Amino acid sequence: MKVLITGSGGQLGCALQITLANHEIIALDRARLDITQFNQVREAIAAHRPGVVINAAAYINVDGAETDQAGAYKLNAVAPRNLAIATGELGIPLVHVSTDYVFDGLGAKPYHEFNATNPLSVYGKSKLAGEQAVAALNPRHFIARTAWLYHHQPASGKNFPKTMLAQSHRDSVRVVSDQYGSPTYAPHLAAAIAKLITTGAYGVYHLAGSGGTSWFALTRRLYQLFGVRTSVEPCATSEFPRPAVRPRYSVLTTIQEPEILLPAWDDGLVEFARAVQE
Ligand SMILES: NC(=O)c1ccc[n+]([C@@H]2O[C@H](COP(=O)([O-])OP(=O)(O)OC[C@H]3O[C@@H](n4cnc5c(N)ncnc54)[C@H](OP(=O)(O)O)[C@@H]3O)[C@@H](O)[C@H]2O)c1
Repeated sequence: MKVLITGSGGQLGCALQITLANHEIIALDRARLDITQFNQVREAIAAHRPGVVINAAAYINVDGAETDQAGAYKLNAVAPRNLAIATGELGIPLVHVSTDYVFDGLGAKPYHEFNATNPLSVYGKSKLAGEQAVAALNPRHFIARTAWLYHHQPASGKNFPKTMLAQSHRDSVRVVSDQYGSPTYAPHLAAAIAKLITTGAYGVYHLAGSGGTSWFALTRRLYQLFGVRTSVEPCATSEFPRPAVRPRYSVLTTIQEPEILLPAWDDGLVEFARAVQE
């Protein structure tokens, strides 16, 4: 199948290109296709006529979005709208990736696909607006919500494990222990998307590392896997005020498609450590 990937230079974009290497891939990074530009999007999709489009582009600066609402909505809501119109009018399926931050995190049980959304941040609200545009404008949609995504590629990319490894020269670090989520290794998400696009079963899916953990426990495990001796001390979210409010508990689970379950989050971290240390 011909697969067109937008935002192909990011973490998920890199992982998709490897996972889907047995397909014909049209990888379009931002320089090759700016998805905020409706005419460019329509022309690219009409020219390539892919069998499926996967949107891996997003505005992921959660704190930055609080003061750059227009930028966040342009990329997270208007751009998916552009993709949904351009794919919808040609009958092409669209995979759009979203986030656990569409939930408020006030619950205590993992969130499934049919739980009510209530984003707390501009980032979460803009991603929810993107989901709604995609669902309204292309009936052949897969909305894949993921969480706490990380990958070793691209080398220039930023994510939580890389940030914590950069702190590993210190004697100790303090890490928030009262926020829980589902760390997801990008190649695991890419493999799940590769399965999803063969199903034709359109809808909303939660595709995140199985199980849940805190940023604190994730850091401890990361340091253990890398043989880092830095001591990891727990602290409360209230001790680290940030511009955007994060959900306290946004562990994801799925009841939509149990066959497309991702490996445990810990397995993802083990694979990440192996890939970085190779
Ligand atoms: N990262 C996370 O923790 C996380 C958590 C939950 C959900 N997600 C979702 O997962 C998906 C993939 O995230 P990711 O971590 O792979 O993001 P990423 O690494 O930041 O990649 C996003 C890519 O989008 C590109 N881009 C920016 N503006 C663009 C435009 N106007 N047109 C086309 N491309 C553009 C970026 O290019 P430049 O680098 O040139 O700007 C970048 O290569 C997103 O939908 C995100 O919301 C991520």
